[in-house]
Amino acid sequence: MVRIGNIEVGEFPLLLAPMEDVSDPPFRAVCKENGADLMYTEFISSEGLIRNAEKSVQKLDIYDYERPIGIQIFGDKIESMRQAAAIAEEAQPEIIDINYGCPVKKVACKGAGAGILLDIPKMQKMTEEIVKQVQLPVTVKTRLGWDDSTIRIVEVAKRLQDVGIKALTIHGRTRVQMYKGVADWTKIAEVKNHPDIHIPIFGNGDIDSPQKALEYKQKYGVDGIMIGRASIGYPWIFNEIKHFMKTGQLLDPPSMEERVRTAKKHLDFSLEWKGEKQGIYEMRRHYTNYFRGIPNFKPYRTRLVESENPDELFAILDEAGSVFEDAYSMV
Ligand SMILES: Cc1cc2nc3c(=O)[nH]c(=O)nc-3n(C[C@H](O)[C@H](O)[C@H](O)COP(=O)(O)O)c2cc1C
Repeated sequence: MVRIGNIEVGEFPLLLAPMEDVSDPPFRAVCKENGADLMYTEFISSEGLIRNAEKSVQKLDIYDYERPIGIQIFGDKIESMRQAAAIAEEAQPEIIDINYGCPVKKVACKGAGAGILLDIPKMQKMTEEIVKQVQLPVTVKTRLGWDDSTIRIVEVAKRLQDVGIKALTIHGRTRVQMYKGVADWTKIAEVKNHPDIHIPIFGNGDIDSPQKALEYKQKYGVDGIMIGRASIGYPWIFNEIKHFMKTGQLLDPPSMEERVRTAKKHLDFSLEWKGEKQGIYEMRRHYTNYFRGIPNFKPYRTRLVESENPDELFAILDEAGSVFEDAYSMV
């Protein structure tokens, strides 16, 4: 059983990655019902939280069925991060997570996110302050290093473990790589297999199929896997991986009915939680994947990403459901 502090997260947990404008309550709801063991909020600005900015505070919304859940915060100032951790704790998640991995210029170049990989003593100090501040277990998500010449992930893991983090997720890329190239899991395995490391180590980067998940589990020995992009519009990936790991068999892809039901549930919750405009807009990135592999779906996809009307969107989804019910059996 993998434990983060005293929280049990399963034998080999599959984690939903924190993803800005993606890992919100509507998307988490469909990931949870499809087997995600541990989920994180998208990153939340510590400055936003301490200034009570509406956009940041809304991201603290969590629901009981999501548990266990971690709230992820980011920032470059130790004092702001300490205060933000206290605010996040009041929202009563199971875990507080620190983002030391965001490569985006406006974050990393200000010394937050992956930027702090250039100042490991500060990273350690910030983490220590947060661990001291909160009662909840603290976890960290980071990258291998800033660039190829600054990969010190074993040292980072040890120093963060020393100040009390309870799990570490490593995305097998450097900041400079952004999302290019392939994630290097050998460096993740080096951390996992280091004799001084005792906390759970979760691997992240490029897992997009049950076969790859099982192969990487066996090859790199990590305690669990975090999945980001492959879950976008395809929340079924969690159960597909679990089933494959248990039985060696691939599940059939979701039926058209299931795809439509899930997309409608997601859309419905998005409209409720984000409001009409934002809810419609942010759903657009999901439709392609929800209907991946359905032959001749393109005209429907175009209508889905162009419509600005909720009733029309539900009607398009229903229509697609009935039109493609038969076509689906040909996939
Ligand atoms: C749209 C998007 C938003 C992201 N936002 C965050 C974030 O808020 N916090 C974070 O730690 N990582 C964030 N990431 C990085 C992912 O959590 C993950 O580390 C990365 O996508 C690699 O995993 P994957 O190959 O499974 O997608 C984001 C990634 C994407 C694609």
